[in-house]
Amino acid sequence: MTNRHQPSEHATNHEIPEQWQEQEFVNQWVTRDDGRQDQRGPMIQATVESCGFSNEQQINVLDVGSGYGLLAKYVLDNYPNANVTLQDVSEPMFEHAKQRLAEYENRTTYINSDFSKRDWSKTLGGPFDMVVSAIAIHNMYDDNLIASIYKDIFDLIGPNGVFANLDYAAQAGGVETHVQWLREAGFKSVDAIEQNERIVILRGAK
Ligand SMILES: C[S@@+](CC[C@H](N)C(=O)[O-])C[C@H]1O[C@@H](n2cnc3c(N)ncnc32)[C@H](O)[C@@H]1O
Repeated sequence: MTNRHQPSEHATNHEIPEQWQEQEFVNQWVTRDDGRQDQRGPMIQATVESCGFSNEQQINVLDVGSGYGLLAKYVLDNYPNANVTLQDVSEPMFEHAKQRLAEYENRTTYINSDFSKRDWSKTLGGPFDMVVSAIAIHNMYDDNLIASIYKDIFDLIGPNGVFANLDYAAQAGGVETHVQWLREAGFKSVDAIEQNERIVILRGAK
């Protein structure tokens, strides 16, 4: 069942790791994304809040495909006792993230790894209380890969930990299929919380 999904206009040919390595492409993407914070901000907040941690809790957080650190910044701004590991394959994205999160240097760790490779999770540390991700994992468009990434994430999470993935699930396998993959990975209480007709928060607890 590999590669049966075709990228739609939202996952253009740009959305492959090679493009994310290009400084100019990333600069343009980040500038464009800055202009749509009115749409993205509430979804980012809903993703983090869906994990159910109180703001004062001391938590270890992983942001998968962190990009320039939008989700990570929401966590760092609102959870003063959280430490955040940002995982991505793009150094240009990390350059943006490091600038934006400079004030949180002592609470952030950056790990460059490629989640299309089976050893991507080995260098991340953990266990994590909260693993979050936003519009990143759908980039794989490969059923086996996405399902195995969910399994890897399950293994990174500690007891009572939670995973929340804000993503274009409908166009990358289907929402119900993602729910099934999360259940097969071992997650309990799996929910799909619709944000709009294209984006959903897929949430599962350990
Ligand atoms: C659409 S951006 C989203 C960035 C960020 N999560 C956000 O919400 O703003 C997708 C991100 O996924 C990362 N990415 C794509 N393929 C990846 C892979 N195979 N391994 C790790 N990161 C990847 C890209 O480098 C990029 O930062």
